[in-house]
Amino acid sequence: MKRTIEEHADRFSDIASDYDDSQDSEEYRACVSLVVEHAREALRASDDRVVADLGTGTGAIALALAEDADRVAGRDISDGMLAKAREKADERGLDDVEFGEGRFRDPNVDAADVVVSNFAMHHLSDEEKREAIAAIADLDPRTFVLGDVMFFGTPDPDEPFYSPEVDDPSTVGHLADALTDEGFALTAVERVHDQVGVLVAERRDG
Ligand SMILES: C[S@@+](CC[C@H](N)C(=O)[O-])C[C@H]1O[C@@H](n2cnc3c(N)ncnc32)[C@H](O)[C@@H]1O
Repeated sequence: MKRTIEEHADRFSDIASDYDDSQDSEEYRACVSLVVEHAREALRASDDRVVADLGTGTGAIALALAEDADRVAGRDISDGMLAKAREKADERGLDDVEFGEGRFRDPNVDAADVVVSNFAMHHLSDEEKREAIAAIADLDPRTFVLGDVMFFGTPDPDEPFYSPEVDDPSTVGHLADALTDEGFALTAVERVHDQVGVLVAERRDG
């Protein structure tokens, strides 16, 4: 991680009120749609419908899945982003979504049938992502849907999808290895852009 957890949390709390309006790239929107679509498909195929959204931010994914799930837990390190997410849940009258402190490597969730994460894990280093994926496997989900900045080829430093001073995206190969080492099988790889994608991972023994 190129910044401490506290620095990332403060950085996001500072921009929380403007965050939703600032996420206007076609690739971010495509990623949100794909993550929600794959998570809905996983929820339709199951009787157990508890979702954990890690790095939930202002709740883009958690809130979109509220009506498809019995319960959604949104977890983040930024109080400001969590406050905004709670405000949106209240405005929409959603009771089955709760937001609280939780980090990738210590999600503060007991278990989840479907784990989702969008545009957040790229703050962790390669090794930290491995630890995060191990913590996700401990939640015993059937499906993990990861949308994020990830490299399909050699990254072009002039592209706008990550800031090298704060972000630390991995290659798709590294993520695939980390997932399979934790007992997941990749069932879909969606390339949104050369640096943005969605991976769907299922537990073989789940
Ligand atoms: C770019 S926002 C994405 C928010 C949301 N998932 C979305 O799709 O709009 C990244 C979020 O990840 C959170 N984050 C960064 N590092 C984290 C960590 N180690 N554990 C949990 N959340 C983290 C930040 O606080 C921020 O809210």
